[in-house]
Amino acid sequence: MNEYQSLKQNNSSGATNFDIFPKTFEGKPDHSVDGSEQRLPDFLIKWANYFDKFRLFLYLALKGRSLNRPYYAHYQITRRCNFRCGSCQTWQDKTFHKGLSLDEMRIAARNFRKIGVKCLALSGGEALLRKDIVEVVRVFRSAGLIVRLQTNGYLLTEDLLERLFRAGVADIYISLDSLDQQVFNLINGIERSDAFDRVLNSIKAAAKVSRRYGSGVFLTTVLRNHNVKEVEGLYKFAKDLGVLVGFYGIEIPPSDSQLNIRSSDPGQVPSREDRIELKKVFRRLIALREKSNTALSVSKKLLEDFRDFFDGPEGDMHWNCNAGDMYVELVPDGSISVCNATSPIDGLTYETLPEFYDSAARDGIFKQKRQSCDGCICTRQLEYITTDFSDLTGKAYAYILSLIRRTRL
Ligand SMILES: C[S@@+](CC[C@H](N)C(=O)[O-])C[C@H]1O[C@@H](n2cnc3c(N)ncnc32)[C@H](O)[C@@H]1O
Ligand code: SF4
Ligand code: SF4
Repeated sequence: MNEYQSLKQNNSSGATNFDIFPKTFEGKPDHSVDGSEQRLPDFLIKWANYFDKFRLFLYLALKGRSLNRPYYAHYQITRRCNFRCGSCQTWQDKTFHKGLSLDEMRIAARNFRKIGVKCLALSGGEALLRKDIVEVVRVFRSAGLIVRLQTNGYLLTEDLLERLFRAGVADIYISLDSLDQQVFNLINGIERSDAFDRVLNSIKAAAKVSRRYGSGVFLTTVLRNHNVKEVEGLYKFAKDLGVLVGFYGIEIPPSDSQLNIRSSDPGQVPSREDRIELKKVFRRLIALREKSNTALSVSKKLLEDFRDFFDGPEGDMHWNCNAGDMYVELVPDGSISVCNATSPIDGLTYETLPEFYDSAARDGIFKQKRQSCDGCICTRQLEYITTDFSDLTGKAYAYILSLIRRTRL
């Protein structure tokens, strides 16, 4: 029995720690169960962080154009979520896969490194529902990966932030779609009165705590008819806190794919009038991006894509991507897809990644997957920074500015 088979057996016998999700929305996972704490002094963590980012910058600048191995992996740790956003369907996934164990993740981390991955985004669903999230971060960080965390922010506390940064989170991405509590609740599909305040407090805590660790804080806002008028307010909120904000347009796939993390609910599709407003707002954002002291994390090129998307034929998001070659997706049951909007590749899992990347069949399979998808927009940013030097430098510059801004607060 190989290492993977024995882990699977432990998994099915319940011997590993999988009981990790709260049973209800009320439930709060106990994040204090992680093992040994990172005892490195804060300034060392900070400088290691800067060094890693500099190395990634050099790597993308020098090798980006000739990449044929993924530099980036996105990991949906779970499809469960404590929010119910109408634009997203991860929380509707009824498979309830309990996710990989830490030992399985160690194999995944090793194999990601083997195929060339430098940077890993931990996402979901809601990644913080996993009570051993600090340990999860440590697993990928100790394999030498730059670890990003994407969260809705509801479960983030100052204490958890400290432990996440100490365990090796390089950057944290927090979704924030509105500064109006009613709109926030509507978009996120929640009724709880405390959610809005908790998320705002998490963002403020992240802006503060991250300073000690040289970590980036990015707000993620998906624009649609409900919040299209809030762009300037959200931008000011981010800038005042010294964090970056990325504005994206809502993406709705035309078909009802169960595997696309975006929902194809027709109620979410922007109307003709909404599209006109969205186009205008992306034009304003392009002008804002051109200013030297910007707090925008998205590049001009991506903003132009969103502008053109809302200006062009309804719903067409197709483009010529390099999914699989430049980035790759790990899903909760351990399967691998080329991106978060396509179905897993038959028989490919985190444990067979290195052989697969060396096999001759790979190109044909990637091609087939890319042809079967509904297209996307926000994933394009993963390619733009590898092929367009001004995209990469523009992002690096905005990032450095945000670090300086936060240091001064
Ligand atoms: C799927 S969520 C997972 C991480 C975490 N639960 C969160 O909300 O940040 C990742 C991001 O996708 C965005 N998203 C959800 N539905 C979308 C859609 N239809 N189009 C574009 N982005 C979407 C969310 O707003 C969030 O910023
Ligand atoms: S967008 Fe994030 S917070 Fe909203 S339902 Fe999807 S996974 Fe949950
Ligand atoms: S174009 Fe299709 S295959 Fe390529 S990244 Fe987007 S959704 Fe994935």
